[in-house]
Amino acid sequence: MIKKKVEEALNDQISREEQSSRIYMAMASWCEVKGFQGAAQFLYKHSDEERMHMTKLIKYVNDKGGHAVLKPLEGPDSKFESLLNVFEQILKHEEYITSAINSLYEVAFDEKDYTTSQFLQWYIQEQIEEESVFKGILDKFRLAGNEKGGLFHLDKELESMAGMAGAGA
Ligand code: FEO
Repeated sequence: MIKKKVEEALNDQISREEQSSRIYMAMASWCEVKGFQGAAQFLYKHSDEERMHMTKLIKYVNDKGGHAVLKPLEGPDSKFESLLNVFEQILKHEEYITSAINSLYEVAFDEKDYTTSQFLQWYIQEQIEEESVFKGILDKFRLAGNEKGGLFHLDKELESMAGMAGAGA
C-alpha cells in the first residue's frame, strides 16, 4: 500500500502533467491560427505525450492501492508574443517540471518507497530528453534568426520532427 505522503506528491505531479498537456494544446492552437502548421503539429503531439505522462502516473497510483484524483486547473495562456516566445516558455516550463520530478523523487526516497523511486527513473530520463529537445529547438531559432524565411524553414523542421517516432517526447 502506497504511503499517503507519496500518494499526495504523485497526485500533485498528475496535475502538473495534465496542466502541461493543456499548456501545449493551447500553444498548438495559437500556432495553428497564426499559420505555423509545423509547430502546431509538433505541439499537438507533445500535448498528447504529456497526457500519456499523466495517465502513466494515474495507473501507477491506483495499481499501488492509492487513488489518483484529478484537481481543478487554471486555464493556460492563449496568446503569445511570437513563436520564439512559445518555445522559450516551453523550456522554462520543462525546467520547472524537472525540478518537480526531482522533489517527487526525494519524497519517495525519504519515505523509503524504493518502488516509486524506481518508477520515477523513467520520468527523470524523460525530462533529460525533453529539455534537450527544446534546447535544440531554441538553438535552431538562434540560427534561423527572426526573419520570415528562417521561421518558415524552422516550422518545416518542426513538422518533420512531429512526424518522427518519439520526437518531442
Ligand atoms: Fe511530462 Fe514535458 O514533462
